[in-house]
Amino acid sequence: MPNTDTIGLHSPLLTEYLTELKILSSELPVLDLACGSGRNGLYLISNDIAVIFADINKISLEKISEVSVNSLSVEKTQLVELWQVDFEDESTSPLSDKCFAAVIVYRYLHRPLFENIKASIKSGGLVVYETFTTEQPQFGRPKKTNFLLKHNELLQQFFGWQVLHYFEGVVSTADGQGSQAIAQIVARKP
Ligand SMILES: C[S@@+](CC[C@H](N)C(=O)[O-])C[C@H]1O[C@@H](n2cnc3c(N)ncnc32)[C@H](O)[C@@H]1O
Repeated sequence: MPNTDTIGLHSPLLTEYLTELKILSSELPVLDLACGSGRNGLYLISNDIAVIFADINKISLEKISEVSVNSLSVEKTQLVELWQVDFEDESTSPLSDKCFAAVIVYRYLHRPLFENIKASIKSGGLVVYETFTTEQPQFGRPKKTNFLLKHNELLQQFFGWQVLHYFEGVVSTADGQGSQAIAQIVARKP
């Protein structure tokens, strides 16, 4: 596993659903949407799950490539795919015609993308989504309502899917120094 001092800690939720993700990804990759440092996707790669790292930020993707080459075996490096993409560009529809075993999204919200995310997951595949809620501004950024989930919003967005996990509330930040208000969902596409 790459050094977490550089990339940050992965989400414990992925450890919980690792076996499930591994089974699902035997034929299709997992999309780490708005991957940033790749802390979550790299955890999946280190567990032999193929991941497409997608982000608008070219430098983030270059760093993921560097971390992969420096800290992963050749076999695991082959599971890494990088995709520089603007998910908010209305003139393109980057997720159309794509199919993933699962889509993981952490700390990113662009509401118009929900329908495309749902369509891009194979039948029986998973979504793992975690981001901040409207309670977050009392603890820090983000503060703009466009970036904050409303109460039960993830449940509404994935209505009709089999909900394996849902949480909404205040938790400690990964460094234990503060608090953050988040919602999490793990759901299976019918
Ligand atoms: C708060 S970071 C979260 C990174 C990562 N998911 C994590 O939890 O560590 C948000 C990420 O969204 C990416 N992003 C913002 N706007 C985007 C867009 N329009 N298309 C693709 N990625 C975008 C940023 O470059 C950044 O890496």
